[in-house]
Amino acid sequence: MNDKELCKLAAHAAKRSYSPYSHFAVGAALLCKNGDVYTGCNIENGAFTPTVCAERVAFFKAVSDGVRDFEKIAVAGGGCPPCGVCLQVMSEFAVGGFEILLVKDDGFERHTLGELLPLSFSLEK
Ligand code: THU
Repeated sequence: MNDKELCKLAAHAAKRSYSPYSHFAVGAALLCKNGDVYTGCNIENGAFTPTVCAERVAFFKAVSDGVRDFEKIAVAGGGCPPCGVCLQVMSEFAVGGFEILLVKDDGFERHTLGELLPLSFSLEK
């Protein structure tokens, strides 16, 4: 799975977004070390706070399948970086070198988790 293909899967996942409140569709495609890809979309809720972001859906699908080793995640939706809560979830399972590909109109931007969340919370620090 190359980066371009992963970005395409993220953009495809965004089409399944359930976002009737914000109308902001986000999709994510998480590449695992075993080569599997888990996708996610944001799922909103009328009570607002139960809303989950696309990135967390992808991570939780993978972890609930017993997969915990990750390479990178592609995120499609407005070109925005993942929110702080999603970065914190990523930091639980991924090392600082874990890559985050932000899908843009004309391609993608590459970042590392360490760059976007230099000081994650950890009980061990
Ligand atoms: N959202 C994501 O799916 N990922 C993020 O990292 C930030 C925001 C979603 C949540 C909500 O459904 C919509 O985008 C607007 O905030």
